[in-house]
Amino acid sequence: MKILVTGGAGYIGSHTVVELQNAGYDVVVVDNLCNSSEKSIERIFQITKKKVKFFKVDILDKEALSKIFDSEHFDCVIHFAGLKAVGESVKQPWRYYHNNICGTLTLLEVMESHNVKNIIFSSSATVYGNPATVPITEECPKGQCTNPYGWTKYMLEQILTDIQNADKSWNVVLLRYFNPIGAHQSGLIGEDPNGIPNNLMPYITQVAVGKQKELGVFGNTYNTPDGTGVRDYIHVVDLAKGHVKALQKIKENSGLSIYNLGTGKGYSVLEIVNTFQKVNDVKIPYSIKPKRDGDIAICYSSAEKAKKELGWKAEHGIEDMCRDAWNWQKNNPNGFKS
Ligand code: NAD
Ligand code: UD1
Repeated sequence: MKILVTGGAGYIGSHTVVELQNAGYDVVVVDNLCNSSEKSIERIFQITKKKVKFFKVDILDKEALSKIFDSEHFDCVIHFAGLKAVGESVKQPWRYYHNNICGTLTLLEVMESHNVKNIIFSSSATVYGNPATVPITEECPKGQCTNPYGWTKYMLEQILTDIQNADKSWNVVLLRYFNPIGAHQSGLIGEDPNGIPNNLMPYITQVAVGKQKELGVFGNTYNTPDGTGVRDYIHVVDLAKGHVKALQKIKENSGLSIYNLGTGKGYSVLEIVNTFQKVNDVKIPYSIKPKRDGDIAICYSSAEKAKKELGWKAEHGIEDMCRDAWNWQKNNPNGFKS
């Protein structure tokens, strides 16, 4: 089977390409490198010893995309390409809606015209908004998103659902990721954010490597055991393997399927900080800061549906996630720029 991975040079995409190649799939990557480096493609080769066919193309460029589809004959598309910074999306909504929505619509048009009707889409737990109860199952109603990035995921889920509903020969898998962290065990690929990180783990690793002075913990008065926010952190390699399992659904012609990809367990900010310090033997200075706008207290998944229907469950614990995140950062203090 030949798989097109859009956004395959990015954080989750690169880890997924490794797992796809390990499972014997033929992989082609399309990425415009707006938030990644071609070095990640070289590193994938170092890990798997298999060449990745790479096209530096924007998914908004219909002509260039069509040419690739003319020559490659894909069986399925795994679609990661998109902009993902929450704060930036609030400041630049037009850019986010244009890139994520128009980009996906262009991709879908090209797929349709080449009779490629199988797609796995990167969605997010953000579509649940502020959940009424945890653990969050796939049946929980979607909520109000707090930012344009979240709305692009919400809207793209609806667009893909409507397309599959109108033409039953489409197979669509919507994967709702919880909080991916960690890195490949080799330390050769990992998360490489531009500028000051917004998310917890890259901020912690940058404190550990001396690039940031201290971590700000956003609030300690939430209704959680230690007052700090609780999230379902998942090792990026487990997440990547979830995509390989999701291909099974495509092969079964199963129409529309929706899965949470999480561990089913929640950890607080301080639990992550303490575990990171313990397993890596490094100090993470932190201070308590005001709550961040739009943050919720607790978010963790029910991982039962993916276990039952895909035979997938996360294997790595929080200690592995902290160890592998640090292994990547300390070997690559400037990410792919080093
Ligand atoms: P990333 O930024 O590392 O990867 C996205 C890739 O898409 C980048 O390499 C970027 O250059 C590329 N890209 C963006 N716009 C493009 C375009 N128009 N044409 C071609 N390439 C383009 O992000 P990631 O963390 O690997 O996330 C992958 C996907 O998963 C995204 O859709 C993201 O919204 C989604 N997601 C991520 C998280 C997370 O916490 N990282 C959580 C939920 C969902
Ligand atoms: C954030 C996004 C979410 C997106 C997800 C993808 C917001 C409001 N939500 O989720 O839409 O899908 O990233 O990665 O941005 N924290 C600190 N200090 C920091 C950074 C984070 O205390 O410097 C805390 C947060 O308050 C939260 C936890 O750490 O309790 C995790 O934060 P983060 O990694 O940003 O993820 P989410 O907020 O869950």
